[in-house]
Amino acid sequence: MERVDHRVLTRLAAPAVAALLALTAGCTATTVQGRPGASGLRDPYFPKAGNGGYQVDHYALDLGYRPAGGQLTGRAVITARAEQTLSSFNLDFSGLRVDSVTVGGKPARYNRTGRELTVRPRADVDKGEVFRTEVRYSGTPKPLTDADGSPEGWITTPDGAVAVGEPVGSMTWFPGNHHPSDKASYDITLTVPQGYEAVSNGELGSRTDTGDGRTAFAWHSAEPMASYLATVAIGKFKVATGRTSSGIGVYDAVAPGEEARSTAALGRLPEVVDWGSGRFGPYPFATVGTIVVPDGTLPYALETQTKPVFSGAPSVELVVHELAHQWFGDSVSPKSWKDMWLNEGFATYAEWLWSEDHGGPSAQKRFDALLAGDTSLDGKLASDWDAFPPAAPPGPADISEGPVYYRGAMVLHRIRQEVGDERFFALLRGWAADHRHGNASTADFTAYAQQKTGHDLRKVWDVWLYGADSPKP
Ligand code: ARG
Ligand code: ZN
Repeated sequence: MERVDHRVLTRLAAPAVAALLALTAGCTATTVQGRPGASGLRDPYFPKAGNGGYQVDHYALDLGYRPAGGQLTGRAVITARAEQTLSSFNLDFSGLRVDSVTVGGKPARYNRTGRELTVRPRADVDKGEVFRTEVRYSGTPKPLTDADGSPEGWITTPDGAVAVGEPVGSMTWFPGNHHPSDKASYDITLTVPQGYEAVSNGELGSRTDTGDGRTAFAWHSAEPMASYLATVAIGKFKVATGRTSSGIGVYDAVAPGEEARSTAALGRLPEVVDWGSGRFGPYPFATVGTIVVPDGTLPYALETQTKPVFSGAPSVELVVHELAHQWFGDSVSPKSWKDMWLNEGFATYAEWLWSEDHGGPSAQKRFDALLAGDTSLDGKLASDWDAFPPAAPPGPADISEGPVYYRGAMVLHRIRQEVGDERFFALLRGWAADHRHGNASTADFTAYAQQKTGHDLRKVWDVWLYGADSPKP
């Protein structure tokens, strides 16, 4: 046959096409084809940090550690909710060997490229579904080098290890959604040889002799926590416990050799918590404490949730700074790493307020000194306070630089000058209360400050927060 009779063909094909269309329509009505979750959240400074398509509710981390050889055996159970139908999703995880992955109890395929672990469950995870991923892993954890050159992640000490995660170090010891915008509750259980202490965030639920020469410490954090604030510390710490006047449990773990020098500052911790509660509103967590690792372990302190880590004995000012972060940074967390000044500007201003409330120089005096180029009241970091606007650090290496801390604190002082003490302190308390256990951005703050104080603060934002030029006269 040369010529095709179209009418005949159409007549023959029509029922088949109709059936096919019906089938496809039926399909789209009942199931959506899963798509891979994004491999990063496009943070302006750390685009690959965090992952798309799900939010974590809870991490259960079970870690065994041998300080002598530095080996870690881990099991992470991550309970998350799918925000899209997922054919696969990513976890951020650096170093360490992945031994197995299951999703919903069934073995899943996985593949790692750099710091991205891609998990492909047997079946799609439906949008809205709460699903559980278990990752078993092992090896010798290694720290990462921060964009600014300092170490972060799992750091060994002479008698153990400490983990500090700002901004992306936590991926060196557990797989997760490592971006501050995804906060979750945690249960962290640490099993270590007898004679060692193992410390983490939150409260100690149990301390059990496992019968094989090891001790298991089960730590629980009920309040949401950004993963960069998760910590563990293993070593021969001296532990002291107590209570603040309002009944909050205190747990201090101090490396031997740092005890004597730490006594003065740690002794004032309960007072700092009470003072902060008066200035910023109720302390946001069920417990408080400190971890003091041997001097020289880290070139900085970190506001790890409920138990900041100090490298060597801290000063009272440093305790005030890291404690202030519990309100500003830990409870109210940044939406992205661009909002870092909401952490550091506030914690630095808290040091100024503490000084002012305890017979030291007033915040006004410190503001004036910096404006006049006198950095003697503040640290070395203060010397370049006007190098760039705090809400726009030039790059990822600059989020912990002087302007984020000091010009950030000066932004707050400029607001105070505009609105007066009463409105200013109501603003600090309101901000901590309204975003308690949440996330907030710089734009959220500027809008909130204007609305809460009833003042037009646009000049402060333009000159102090965003202005490329130095505000120096
Ligand atoms: N957020 C810490 C603090 O101000 C400092 C972290 C410094 N990290 C760094 N990579 N430079 O308490
Ligand atoms: Zn800080």
